[in-house]
Amino acid sequence: MPRKIVHYPHPALRHKSKPVTMIDKELHIQIGEMLELMYQAKGLGLAAPQVALPYQLLVMNITGDPNQPECEEIFVNPQIVEKKGAMTGEEGCLSFPGLYQDVRRAQTIKVRAYNLKGEPVEKTVSDLESRAWQHELDHLNGVLFIDMMGPLARFAARSSVKKFEKAFRAAQEKGEIPPNLEIEKLLAALEGRP
Ligand code: CO
Repeated sequence: MPRKIVHYPHPALRHKSKPVTMIDKELHIQIGEMLELMYQAKGLGLAAPQVALPYQLLVMNITGDPNQPECEEIFVNPQIVEKKGAMTGEEGCLSFPGLYQDVRRAQTIKVRAYNLKGEPVEKTVSDLESRAWQHELDHLNGVLFIDMMGPLARFAARSSVKKFEKAFRAAQEKGEIPPNLEIEKLLAALEGRP
């Protein structure tokens, strides 16, 4: 089955991901698939749990443009080590297609990760890039942008969130998506990978 971006409330989105311990051929293949799916969906970033992979792994291209592959960035085991300031702005998520709401985030953050060569990288990012990082990093901890919305945005998103829940249950009833227990088993098996 080809890999797909999973939509809320798929259990992979609430699963805390495990650090990557080996950058092997399989991981490279999965990263290629993630980039392709991100571009198809017109996103700027994608976290591994969004394709039901329980790994601490992010792909980003802040231009969102597949014709600018030089802007592609892959981050392994990323962390935010410093946060400064605050900003409120509209955010979307490829696991909630069509839902956009204001979310408050830190304006500037310092991040640390490993690149695909296993070398440590550190950078300071602001504004859109800072927002993308905070959003994607939350995914690795099973945190979604609906959790980060203020009360007004959350209220405005309520009916849309209910629709996603209904659509997901309907897809499970039709057998298009496995039952939650089966998904949890698959995630646990993937975690066992070296
Ligand atoms: Co997202």
